[in-house]
Amino acid sequence: MKVLGIESSCDETGIALYDSEQGLLAHELYSQIALHAEYGGVVPELASRDHIRKTLPLIESVLKQAKCARHEIDAVAYTAGPGLMGALLVGASIGRSIAWALGVPALGVNHMEGHLLSPLLEENPPVFPFLSLLVSGGHTLLIDVQSVGQYAILGESIDDAVGEAFDKTAKLLGLAYPGGPAIAALAEQGEAGRFIFPKPMTNRPGLDFSFSGLKTFAMNAWMDSDKTQQDKADIALAFETAAVETLALKCKRALKQSGRNRLVVAGGVSANKSLRIRLDTLHGVETFYPRQEFCSDNGAMIAFAGCMRLAEMGEVQSDTSFSAQPRWSLASLSPP
Ligand code: KG4
Ligand code: ZN
Repeated sequence: MKVLGIESSCDETGIALYDSEQGLLAHELYSQIALHAEYGGVVPELASRDHIRKTLPLIESVLKQAKCARHEIDAVAYTAGPGLMGALLVGASIGRSIAWALGVPALGVNHMEGHLLSPLLEENPPVFPFLSLLVSGGHTLLIDVQSVGQYAILGESIDDAVGEAFDKTAKLLGLAYPGGPAIAALAEQGEAGRFIFPKPMTNRPGLDFSFSGLKTFAMNAWMDSDKTQQDKADIALAFETAAVETLALKCKRALKQSGRNRLVVAGGVSANKSLRIRLDTLHGVETFYPRQEFCSDNGAMIAFAGCMRLAEMGEVQSDTSFSAQPRWSLASLSPP
């Protein structure tokens, strides 16, 4: 079964074609980073308009690369949430229209399920069950994953997501958007130990996170410093270390609590090298990540998650109505 995947939940238009037998056939990504950079964050209306411009040309390009004719598409999967309403509706309306025109099923995929399953696109994929750490710009989640659609949320952020904390801290240090990669690059020049940041909510039991205090701590450290380039790098490193250590500590706790020994990490922040190095040191734990380019938003994870669900669902009735859900918890999903 060949599934066309469409991702348009935020500032990336991602298109892919996944075949249940042959694997990933082609994928394309258009990032709107340059469009939003001057505003220091994503402008929803600009995002929607750009998705409208890019989606169809990228679909044409993916089909060409995969040498796949339109009538060979067996199903369409699009991101139906969570994300920006306008941006989601672009992918949903185009996805539904294509499916209707071709007479094939269409399925709205949960964006976070796309991230969660993305490491399964790699060679030597994790087998169920496993513990998943989802770290993106909008979410920080620890999930006990029994199988596709069986997700028990063990912990989540009570305020800023970890990616959001990277972005906000970067902004107040005057670094480029998106902040995660900018902080990580600057931290490489940092000297460890000059600034010590707290590890929020680690000194009490539980698996929830709180990252909003870290940006305030970073701001105060920056204001009290001489504001040299070295100070900035040292603060970036201290912030990154605190975030990584907090995530690692909670993962360790969650692995113990759930009895799992496989840890699957995904979402934009899973691209962070320090995080990967640290999690790889967890004793007796096998770690799995998506390839670097599939850590951030992409069409491949949506095509893949859609295919995994569609393969189990049998006949899918596709009507002409559709909707999107800006908020859509993984806990509300069920197996296909
Ligand atoms: O998954 P994603 O592309 O979009 C959402 O679904 O939110 O995640 C984007 C987030 C941003 O906050 C970005 O700063 C962060 O992932 N990020 C990183 C790195 N690369 C991206 N954070 C830390 N280190 C990185 N190398
Ligand atoms: Zn994402």
